[in-house]
Amino acid sequence: MSNIIVGTPVMADIGKRFREHGLPKKTVVLFDENTRRLFGDDILETLRQAEFSVVELVIPARETSKSFRTAFRLYGEMIDAGIDRSWNLLAVGGGVVGDLGGYIAASYYRGIPVVQFPTTLLAMTDSSIGGKVAINHPQGKNLIGFFHMPEMVLIDPSYLKTLPRREMYAGMAEVVKYGFIADRNFLDYVDSHFMDIVEVRDPYTAEAVRRSAAVKADVVAKDFLEKSGLRATLNFGHTFAHGFEKLAGYRHIRHGEAVTIGMVCALHLSRLFGKIGDEDLLRGIGVLSKFRFPRNLLKKRFLEQPSADILESMHSDKKKVDKTLRFVLLEQLGKAYLHDEPIADELVVESIEHAKETLKKKY
Ligand SMILES: NC(=O)c1ccc[n+]([C@@H]2O[C@H](COP(=O)([O-])OP(=O)(O)OC[C@H]3O[C@@H](n4cnc5c(N)ncnc54)[C@H](O)[C@@H]3O)[C@@H](O)[C@H]2O)c1
Ligand SMILES: [Zn+2]
Repeated sequence: MSNIIVGTPVMADIGKRFREHGLPKKTVVLFDENTRRLFGDDILETLRQAEFSVVELVIPARETSKSFRTAFRLYGEMIDAGIDRSWNLLAVGGGVVGDLGGYIAASYYRGIPVVQFPTTLLAMTDSSIGGKVAINHPQGKNLIGFFHMPEMVLIDPSYLKTLPRREMYAGMAEVVKYGFIADRNFLDYVDSHFMDIVEVRDPYTAEAVRRSAAVKADVVAKDFLEKSGLRATLNFGHTFAHGFEKLAGYRHIRHGEAVTIGMVCALHLSRLFGKIGDEDLLRGIGVLSKFRFPRNLLKKRFLEQPSADILESMHSDKKKVDKTLRFVLLEQLGKAYLHDEPIADELVVESIEHAKETLKKKY
C-alpha cells in the first residue's frame, strides 16, 4: 500500500507528505511518556519548522491507557484547544498509542484522519497497519473500537534503537509469524539475520519491517472485514497465546512472548494433523528457538501451567465465534489456512504437551 512509508528520516518532507495525502497542516500529536521524552522535542520541532499548527497530548506508557477514561480526558483537552474536523491526529508510539489515538480519531467530531507513526517493532509491523483501533473494557481487551484506516503510516526503523530488548523480541514474534503464514523466503531471511534484525543493524531491520508491513497490508487489503478467513491467518499461534495471556492476567507475559510459545504449539498441531512433516516442524522450531525470554518466564507461564488449565483459559477468550476454538494451521512453511472444523480438545492438549517437551529441551 502506497500510504505506508518506510525510511530514515521519515519526518523529512513531512509537509509535502501531508499535502500529497490531502491533509491540512493541523495536527494533534499523541505520545506516551516515553515517546514524548525520547522523540517529542525533535518531532514537534520538525512539525513547527514545516509550519504545522500543533497540539500535543501525552498519556502514561501503559496498557491501561487504552481506556474510555483516558479517551474522555483527551477529548476534553482537544475541545479546549479548539480542535475541529479540519484537524488530524498523529499517533507517535507503540500499539497502545496507536490503538488509543486511532480510537479517538475515529470518534472525535464523528471522525478525523489519523496518521500512524509507530515506534515499536510490533506497531511498525502489525498494530499500525490495517485500521483496527480499540480501547479495552474491564470485561475484555480491545472490545470497543472501530475500523478506521490510517491516512498514512510513517515508519522510521532507526527509532527502534532505543527500544528495550524484550520489546524487540515481542515484535519479532509477529515478524516471524509473517514468514510462517505467507512467505517462506522471508522466513529464511529472518532465520539467517535474526540477531541483525534484533540489534537494529542496517539494512536488515528496515528490510524485515518493510516485508512484514507488506504482508500485513496485503492480507488486510484482500480481506478487510475478516470474511474469507485470510485475515484470520494473521492469528497463527494466537489461539494458544490468548490462553497464556489470560492465565497470566494479561500481566507478566508480553503478547509477543505468548505468540512465540503459541507458534510452537501451532506448529505441533499442524504436524499432528499431518499437514506439515517433521522437516518443516524442526525447521520452524529452529527459528523459534532463537527467541529469548526473561528469566523463569517460560517455566512459570508455560511449562508449569497444567495443559488443562491452558485449554480452559483458551476456551474463555471473549472474542470467540460460537464458542468453538478456531485454529490457524500451516499447510507448509510459508502457507497458512484457517481450519474450519472444530479440533478435539485432546489434540489441542497433545500439541501443548509436545510444545512443552520441545521448549524444555531448548531452554
Ligand atoms: N490494532 C491492531 O491491529 C493491534 C495489533 C496488535 C496489537 N495491538 C495492540 O498493541 C498494544 C501493544 O503495543 P506495543 O507492543 O507496541 O506496546 P506499547 O505501546 O505498550 O509499547 C511498549 C513500550 O515501549 C515504549 N516505547 C515505544 N517506542 C519506543 C522506542 N522507540 N524506544 C523506547 N521505548 C519505546 C512504550 O512507551 C512502552 O513502554 C496492545 O494494546 C495490543 O492490543 C493492536
Ligand atoms: Zn499478535
